[in-house]
Amino acid sequence: MDLIVILLALLLAIATIVYELYFIYALIISKNCKYPPAFPSFGNMKKITLTEARKVLNSAKKPLKVIDLGCGTGTLLLPLAKEFPEHEFVGYDWDWFVSKIIAFRCRKLKNVKIIRDNFMNADFKSYDLLLCFLDTKAADDLSLDLNGKLKKSAVVISSAFELKDMQPSEIIDAKSYGMPLKVYIYGKKD
Ligand SMILES: C[S@@+](CC[C@H](N)C(=O)[O-])C[C@H]1O[C@@H](n2cnc3c(N)ncnc32)[C@H](O)[C@@H]1O
Repeated sequence: MDLIVILLALLLAIATIVYELYFIYALIISKNCKYPPAFPSFGNMKKITLTEARKVLNSAKKPLKVIDLGCGTGTLLLPLAKEFPEHEFVGYDWDWFVSKIIAFRCRKLKNVKIIRDNFMNADFKSYDLLLCFLDTKAADDLSLDLNGKLKKSAVVISSAFELKDMQPSEIIDAKSYGMPLKVYIYGKKD
């Protein structure tokens, strides 16, 4: 019994150290919290984001290129990629751990590519559908970068954060667990 308790305590201590180390790593890569850490989309906001993305993908007359700017572990990208094998999906994330997890999760999907890099380096013009769930600062930086660099027909779906200086075509109420969240759609949806 004593041995089990010691082993459990040891496991807990190791898990805590690993988590702390990851926290420091996440703090460094997010430029001291200037950009958001890995945090999966959730609740109604996730449902609405997926529904809106499905509308775009279902109505496409040709294969589309989709990018998830900060794909995390694939909460949004993976269900869509599985459901729409005819479309091409690219996930950008600069977090090494998160990139490994999503790369493993989509190892059998031929229509997904994961790039471990700053998504600001992506060639925005080549995408038809852009997804993001960031934070205020990252969304502001991204909107500055996106403006004028998108395909005319591109649709951007931003969960929770409005993209500054871009006019949303629709704002959908996405209250989740009591939080007054919204999903912002930019560009034509059909
Ligand atoms: C809030 S999470 C969203 C994850 C996923 N898209 C979802 O909706 O569940 C934001 C992700 O963006 C990544 N990220 C933030 N800024 C980034 C940047 N400039 N380049 C690449 N990845 C970034 C973080 O590492 C994190 O995994």
